[in-house]
Amino acid sequence: MGADDFNALMSVLDPPMAIVTTAVGEERAGCLIGFHAQNSIDPPRYCVWISKANHTHRAILHSPHLAIHFLTSADHDLASLFGELTGDQVDKFALCDTTIHETGVPLLDRCPFRIVGRRVTLLEDDSDHACVMVEPIDLSTGERFVALHLSDLTDLVPGHPVHDRAAPPTVRANAEET
Ligand SMILES: Cc1cc2nc3c(=O)[nH]c(=O)nc-3n(C[C@H](O)[C@H](O)[C@H](O)COP(=O)(O)O)c2cc1C
Repeated sequence: MGADDFNALMSVLDPPMAIVTTAVGEERAGCLIGFHAQNSIDPPRYCVWISKANHTHRAILHSPHLAIHFLTSADHDLASLFGELTGDQVDKFALCDTTIHETGVPLLDRCPFRIVGRRVTLLEDDSDHACVMVEPIDLSTGERFVALHLSDLTDLVPGHPVHDRAAPPTVRANAEET
């Protein structure tokens, strides 16, 4: 089995798309994701998988809360904003309307179908994405949901290719370099 076979099989599943947001103090972070799923009914739990390349990954390591916004077919522009730009270079939240949740997490006003969750588990193994499991603590829904799917976004180029890594990778490495 080759990686291309695996990728081809996964892409036919055509997942619905979402945007994860979080904040560490004043620093807001968020990215487009296709890797997400409910993983428990009782207790309710939801998982997202965040690329170790992303600014959002580094923020989540320091944040106890995050929000998951489920995108509709009208949200291609938001998918582009959060999937093609990186918080390492731009504040994406200056380019869209947000409300700050009581947990400090920025919520996207355009996206009423969402979960605000408390991080309960963070799994970092040799995968290139970290698994983040949340306990939903606040929910919201809207009128009618028509999902935006991966196949609607073939024109997007990720802001961080999956093999990107922060350079230097750690604060200690930074200190050693200077
Ligand atoms: C179609 C598409 C699907 C993506 N799926 C994921 C995903 O499931 N998990 C993830 O961490 N990044 C995913 N990305 C990549 C990030 O959204 C992208 O690199 C983003 O610019 C990272 O932003 P950040 O550095 O501000 O966190 C996807 C990007 C695209 C275009």
